[in-house]
Amino acid sequence: MRASRWLVGAVCAVTLVTVQAAEPKSDVWPAVASSVKKDPRLEARIAELLHKMTLQQKVGQMIQADIRSVTPEDVRQYRLGSILNGGGAFPANEKHSKVSDWVALADRFYDASMDTAGGAPAIPIMWGTDAVHGHNNVIGATLFPHNVGLGAAHDPELIRRVGEATAREVAATGIDWTFAPTVAVVQDPRWGRSYESYSERPDIVKAYAGKMVQGLQGIGGSPMFLDGNHIIATAKHYIGDGGTSQGIDRGNNEASEQELFAIHGQGYVTAIEAGVQTVMASYNSWQGVKMHGQRHLLTEVLKNRMGFDGIVVSDWDGVDEVQGCSKDRCAQAINAGLDMIMVPDQWKPFLQNTIEQVQAGDIPMARIDDAVTRILRVKLRAGLFEKGRPSSRPLANKVAELGAPQHRAVAREAVRKSVVLLKNDKCLLPLSAKANVLVAGDGANDIGKQSGGWSISWQGTGNTNADYPGATSIYEGIKTAVTAAGGKATLSPDGSFQVKPDAAVVVFGENPYAEWHGDLKSLQYRGPDGDAPAADINRPAPEVSPQFAEPNYETSPLAPPTAPVADLALLKRLHDKGIPVVTVFLTGRVRGVTPEIEASNAFAVAWLPGTEGGGIADVLFRKSTGAVNFPFSGKLSYAWPRGGAGDVPLFPYGYGLGGCNQH
Ligand code: BGC
Ligand code: BGC
Repeated sequence: MRASRWLVGAVCAVTLVTVQAAEPKSDVWPAVASSVKKDPRLEARIAELLHKMTLQQKVGQMIQADIRSVTPEDVRQYRLGSILNGGGAFPANEKHSKVSDWVALADRFYDASMDTAGGAPAIPIMWGTDAVHGHNNVIGATLFPHNVGLGAAHDPELIRRVGEATAREVAATGIDWTFAPTVAVVQDPRWGRSYESYSERPDIVKAYAGKMVQGLQGIGGSPMFLDGNHIIATAKHYIGDGGTSQGIDRGNNEASEQELFAIHGQGYVTAIEAGVQTVMASYNSWQGVKMHGQRHLLTEVLKNRMGFDGIVVSDWDGVDEVQGCSKDRCAQAINAGLDMIMVPDQWKPFLQNTIEQVQAGDIPMARIDDAVTRILRVKLRAGLFEKGRPSSRPLANKVAELGAPQHRAVAREAVRKSVVLLKNDKCLLPLSAKANVLVAGDGANDIGKQSGGWSISWQGTGNTNADYPGATSIYEGIKTAVTAAGGKATLSPDGSFQVKPDAAVVVFGENPYAEWHGDLKSLQYRGPDGDAPAADINRPAPEVSPQFAEPNYETSPLAPPTAPVADLALLKRLHDKGIPVVTVFLTGRVRGVTPEIEASNAFAVAWLPGTEGGGIADVLFRKSTGAVNFPFSGKLSYAWPRGGAGDVPLFPYGYGLGGCNQH
């Protein structure tokens, strides 16, 4: 019975292969030459290994489970191919896990995957993490500015260095793979993931994607490629995540196929050229069909036309979004071209159901073989079969890599290059470092707020400055700069003071959020819709399983409220007392802040700078000699709105002052 079902599967497979070979419907997509070529010896090794595997073992390779729901024993028994730590997942659920705890857990999973006692071949497990702005799940890591800030820096070479530093920190914890870079090109910044996108224009994303991949993985085709200092990268979320109607997370992208390529596809071109080894499918739909079920785009375009020969991984429970699927079964997604399935907690039924679907002929065996071939290819290219236990790898347990001074220096450089100066009346900036400065606002001394979402926890909330050892708040950075020059900095979040300061730096803006929690109805920062959640334009928030829920988010789809009314009042209060006011605006996206700009003498957008707050003082203050320290060089990678949708921008794309620095 079983054998005959397999036969049916094999026959279907032949048919499928013929269909797959058909040219894409549209010729808008180019063939892309990856710098990582197929290696015949490696392909032979894959074929040999595949030949030894049972169906159960093959499907096991295709499963990726979250460390909160899977044990090394499960990996040993079910031969799972991959694990991840989703945002806010730590070894033993301990946020303060040390580098050695991460490595020890990586060893346990690795050992389980290499255990051949049950007769299964040894295939090293591959661990993925969201190191999306540095190794952001790990205490002590360097957190770089979120992508929106990097986009304003307009510096592709810097992006490569950010990738290199990130790779080293991830490698130090024994982890193999990051789900980055995001190459979304945001068309509506009300989207809660806008800060994960470099720009609203494809050119910057295109210039950055390949560089980030090179930084993370090493140069494709060179000896450094995926050596001990590098990790596997992911281009995500394929495709069209930044172009959903009204910026609704997981919504529908209505672009034509030509636009899909010209706007949303550009990052994939350079990422594939650079040899990116994994691509993550997106939650959104294209023209009404969920990407996780889009055979044309996943298989015909990405794999057959663009020549991507690595792993297409699904997003977190992304299969659940496909029509007719649930979290524990989705033949459609596998048939559409997904190779590895991120099924964080429903992995066991998913595994079983998939085996049965293959046996029933619903999934062709050839599709399974192709998926496993791709998984083994990436594992072999990454040297996982040769690198040995995670703890034996060159950077493993090198605690000093986490937050290393040279990584922090790269992050600080990125911070100062990302600041965009929108207003600078009477050349107020840069300030004298000899001044008496009041540092106010609820963002002045809050590293969580300046880091945004995907910072230690998924939403970036629930942490204190003590959770960021080695980090520098914006206030601390200012204090260091002015104290060294003989000036004085006083922290006063509410702006009260005893002695009238020479100037006030007021730091405020968005509080952390991630994914749909940050969707907005309006970009207006303050006003009737200011910070209004997008709940009423959104479909119901995706269900989060209890073991993955973070405090304050189980029931509410809302980003935590900011204090826009108080922020404006604070600016006015200081301004009314005749104090020159410099606003430093923390935000994951462009917002309508016209009244706040009017109430400030100078207005600088800092985006979400991460742990190196010292980069802000670098541009705000002169040297003790009075000379310019670092000029403002950031330029908007998004047009800055007045507030309402469809407005003529207040500041155009590419805007950013720098002039007064020349004095
Ligand atoms: C996000 C991905 C992320 C994954 C794993 C998903 O919800 O969309 O960007 O890589 O979770 O944490
Ligand atoms: C996980 C995230 C994931 C999200 C999506 C969270 O609990 O930690 O990584 O993206 O759930 O639902």
